[in-house]
Amino acid sequence: MIFAANFKTNHTRASTQAYVEALEERLATKRPEDRVYLFPPATALDRYKGSFTVGAQNAYPTRNGAVTGEIGVEQLEEFGIKTLLIGHSERRELLQESQTRVAEKFCYFQSLGFEIIYCIGEPLEVREAGEEAVMAHLLGQFEGIDITYDNLIIAYEPIWAIGTGRSATTEEIHTTHQALKQHLARPLLYGGSVKPANIQEIGAIEGVDGVLVGSASLDVERFSQMILA
Ligand code: PGA
Repeated sequence: MIFAANFKTNHTRASTQAYVEALEERLATKRPEDRVYLFPPATALDRYKGSFTVGAQNAYPTRNGAVTGEIGVEQLEEFGIKTLLIGHSERRELLQESQTRVAEKFCYFQSLGFEIIYCIGEPLEVREAGEEAVMAHLLGQFEGIDITYDNLIIAYEPIWAIGTGRSATTEEIHTTHQALKQHLARPLLYGGSVKPANIQEIGAIEGVDGVLVGSASLDVERFSQMILA
């Protein structure tokens, strides 16, 4: 299984450092086939060493230049970072990243060989319109995206399940993952209110290759509990 922690706008450099140290101790007993990723905020990126991969939550498709407030490849290279989250619904919604911009970013970082965790997910009104509408929406989020890229992991995160405490049901996850798998040959994560209480149930669903965890990853005990469950 893949376990990815998305800190979003949480944790500082100091608390990330402490987190990483505590996590590394816990990971001594992790199953060797499990893969762990951490996405701290940009200010906490560093050359952390351990049995996990550190990635960036965002970067601008440039090496460097005049893009106020963004970071580019030069800033990632300083810490040896070659993994990036792209397409998270919070960036699509709060920061109005259009599919065109998301696809441009994807192509740029793909051309540099980055490992990409690419996020897709539908809003509640689309979910309520039924599975066919959900699939049409999700497939639309692959526009301009090379889904055969071999350094790609996909994360399906229904927007209504993110940060709400209400995960999708086992049946919803199963149905959507099965449908997506007909189009994808890459690992497929589920994200949206994954926590210690539901990790076993979600991890056991056929077609779920891992999880992308927000809130419940902020506490190192809870995140390691999920990995070691
Ligand atoms: P959540 O966030 O676990 O807090 O629902 C998941 C995500 O947005 O990646």
